[in-house]
Amino acid sequence: MPISLLVASRDEHFRESIRDSIVSIGNAKVISEYPEVSSNLYIRVLQDLERNPEAALIVDLVTDPESSLKALEKVKQAAPDLYVIASNYHADGETVLASLRAGSNDFLIQPLRRADFRDVMARLERAPRRVSSGSSRLGKFYSFLGVKGGVGTTTLAVNFASVLAPRQQTVLVDLDVTANDCAMQLGVSPQHSLQEVGENLARMDQALFEGLVPRDPLGFLLVSPPEQMDQRFLFNEPMFREFANFLVEHYQSIVVDAGRWLSDEVVLAALQSSATIFLVTNQQFPAIRNAQRYITALMRLGFNQDQLKIVVNQYQKKPGPNLATLEQIQQTLNQKVFYGIPPSASAMVAVNRGRPVAANGAEAGDLERSLRAFVDKATGVSPSAAKSA
Ligand SMILES: Nc1ncnc2c1ncn2[C@@H]1O[C@H](COP(=O)(O)OP(=O)(O)O)[C@@H](O)[C@H]1O
Ligand SMILES: [Mg+2]
Repeated sequence: MPISLLVASRDEHFRESIRDSIVSIGNAKVISEYPEVSSNLYIRVLQDLERNPEAALIVDLVTDPESSLKALEKVKQAAPDLYVIASNYHADGETVLASLRAGSNDFLIQPLRRADFRDVMARLERAPRRVSSGSSRLGKFYSFLGVKGGVGTTTLAVNFASVLAPRQQTVLVDLDVTANDCAMQLGVSPQHSLQEVGENLARMDQALFEGLVPRDPLGFLLVSPPEQMDQRFLFNEPMFREFANFLVEHYQSIVVDAGRWLSDEVVLAALQSSATIFLVTNQQFPAIRNAQRYITALMRLGFNQDQLKIVVNQYQKKPGPNLATLEQIQQTLNQKVFYGIPPSASAMVAVNRGRPVAANGAEAGDLERSLRAFVDKATGVSPSAAKSA
């Protein structure tokens, strides 16, 4: 069986040295790298195991041994059959024992030596049971990241949740704190926001959560930033990670309007928890150039091409002279476009009416049909799929 590795380490050099060492081992490769070893590492790991059930995980404990061991333990609880290799500078009894107790199967000492690495890989190859069983029962994060303001990031996130809600338990999370546009597009002014979610995290359960945030008539729950722009509020990265764990354990789909600020630590944590990141652009050349910059930045941050899907909003097959064609976009971005959503006046009407396009029943037009087909392709969940709790 070929060896596939997942590598979790905050240390870029460590991840690089694994990549270098693996070259000399036949039939082995690194399939995912996580630049964080956080409490919701298990979300990403489980998603990757769905596609690569034979993968093994290397966890670097160096930066913060205590929290890394907790992260490892949580991964092991979620995927008991996963083969885990812990790694640290010290291999004293206490360090190794702690990692074994957290559930690791092997230990790799740093700085990395080729011979050690080869031994660890040989033991991994001989390990009897190293295929993680079953698909993840955790919910999935779908994040929409805009390459510019106004490209339709919020519109797509809101409609994605609207289409998905009758099929799956869905939560829409608006992380674009510069506006409160999801609520606006849905015609609500929520009383509670991320602020109250943050304040109540320690005692969060499904009843409390659903009492706190509004439910759209289409069936999904909405979590938004506070309405008052001048109100400072605390919702930081550790809070988001805890909230994300709660969400994936209780809901099937979590749709995020990630806005466009990659430098926002909460947005980044949401992207890191995501099964799929939709990079939203239009056909204007400045937007395509920005899309290229986003892709470069995301790759540098350790995301992989599998996770990242390009969506062209207001897509015209035969664009005018000032717009890029599909071929030009794919060539510039060196990636296939996942979906094109057509322009439609009904998008604007929907915003003014405060109800999403996807809420149109009988009067469904091109845009609505396209949004539905997009959701079908993105989730693989068919419209007839029964909603299970
Ligand atoms: N496919 C579309 N066709 C026509 N107008 C659209 C489409 N998608 C979005 N819009 C319009 O573009 C504007 C910006 O959309 P919005 O979702 O707020 O963008 P962003 O969140 O990227 O800033 C809104 O007025 C919206 O109605
Ligand atoms: Mg927006």
